[in-house]
Amino acid sequence: MQIQTKINGQTALFGIFGHPVKHSFSPILQNTLAALLGENAVYVPFPVPPEGLEAAVKGAFALGVQGLNITIPHKQAILPFLAGIDPLAERIGAVNTLCRRENGFWGYNTDVLGLKKCFSLHHRSLKGERVLLIGAGGAANAAAFLAAEEGADALWIANRTLAKAQALSQRVRQWYPLPVHPISLQDIPHLEGPLLVIQTTSVGMERDESPVLDPSFWQKVPFVVDIIYTPWQTRTLREARAQGAEGVNGFEMLIYQGIASAELWRNIQLSPHEAQALYNALALYYREGQA
Ligand code: ATR
Repeated sequence: MQIQTKINGQTALFGIFGHPVKHSFSPILQNTLAALLGENAVYVPFPVPPEGLEAAVKGAFALGVQGLNITIPHKQAILPFLAGIDPLAERIGAVNTLCRRENGFWGYNTDVLGLKKCFSLHHRSLKGERVLLIGAGGAANAAAFLAAEEGADALWIANRTLAKAQALSQRVRQWYPLPVHPISLQDIPHLEGPLLVIQTTSVGMERDESPVLDPSFWQKVPFVVDIIYTPWQTRTLREARAQGAEGVNGFEMLIYQGIASAELWRNIQLSPHEAQALYNALALYYREGQA
């Protein structure tokens, strides 16, 4: 019999709350990262239904859990159960990361940090740029506040349901002076370039479709992030690249939000080399699983 010594009396516990949480990539990411750091730590999924959220937060604190990720559907609902919240996460109104402090868990939003990293890795900045955000759901929320926080010149929010684009625009305007324009998806091809684009809808996941109805629009776009990573290349990215745009899928944002969470929990910073090696290994693993 082989004696298992990996998990022992000193193992630090991390995890993710979601409902469902079965399909989360975070356990693989975080356990690989802990191994890279040579740490005695384990990261596990916790399926937490909405009615159990408050008890789960208190229970995790009582059990000494060191850090948590928070995913669908809890990113907003968890706010009342936190001891404190990072100012940008508070503006966004959603957290995906909890850090243990003396008096309870503090909330952060590393979706924003992951997206920011994605821009900087490609030597792009949102500062002074005209930005088009496609979608007005949870992911768009973080992207809109990042664009505003980074000093974008103007922001267009295009969504199938215009009322949701209007509501998000209004929330951004409450905090930031930049002009924010809610528009319909049909209006996208009429926008003037150049534009940096962040695509946050689920269009392109199930079927080979794009929310941008006229592919020649991409001639006005130097850089686009599509937060989808299944398929690896969406129709949006394919059409954008065909018109000369630089396109990045959502896997980078996924990995770098996880790295940002891990860094917050441990108060460390991975070197660019370590982060890149982790990204490469996980991207290879993920793509082999898809093939
Ligand atoms: P997430 O948290 O991943 O952003 P979400 O909050 O459910 O997910 O938001 C999904 C986004 O995809 C929304 O902008 C949604 O548009 P609506 O607000 O009109 O629902 C968009 N979306 C989903 N399916 C779509 C489709 N078939 N066509 C256009 N937009 C779609």
